[in-house]
Amino acid sequence: MTSEKTDFRTTIRQSLTATQNGTVTILSSLLAVEDLLGYIPLEAIEEVASLTNSTTNEVWGVASFYTNFRFTPPGDHVLEVCWGPSCHILGAQNIVKEVLGTLNLQGEGDTEDHTFTFKYNTCLAACGQAPVISIDHQLMGRMTPEKTKERILSVKATGEKGKRQNG
Ligand code: FES
Repeated sequence: MTSEKTDFRTTIRQSLTATQNGTVTILSSLLAVEDLLGYIPLEAIEEVASLTNSTTNEVWGVASFYTNFRFTPPGDHVLEVCWGPSCHILGAQNIVKEVLGTLNLQGEGDTEDHTFTFKYNTCLAACGQAPVISIDHQLMGRMTPEKTKERILSVKATGEKGKRQNG
């Protein structure tokens, strides 16, 4: 095993042990990994199996049941547009149109250059600020299509990656 791979596994193990308080379940462990990395790599399936005394098949069964888990690394930045009722009423549809146009996407997914992953969120829990988007978990309220485009272009211009760790 290369040292890069070892470091990746160590990071996964730390995320699993650092966030466990009380009951450790396959689901809670997978959520901890998803939160850290933005996806569930094969290494995490193995580590969660070992931590929860389960087989990798059992862990895979839980992981594949939930459609919110992804199994490949997300783009460098994750952009979510809230699609909840308040945001919908106050213009989320036009924001989505702008996002799709700016990122050259047809719907949820990763841009070709892998700089962005776009997804819908059912409620970003800031309904009073509707319409709301988030980029790399940073909430932005009272958005317009124009402001959304500006934020996307400014994130692109920095050339920086989001804060998640990828293996
Ligand atoms: S409906 Fe958009 S933040 Fe709740």
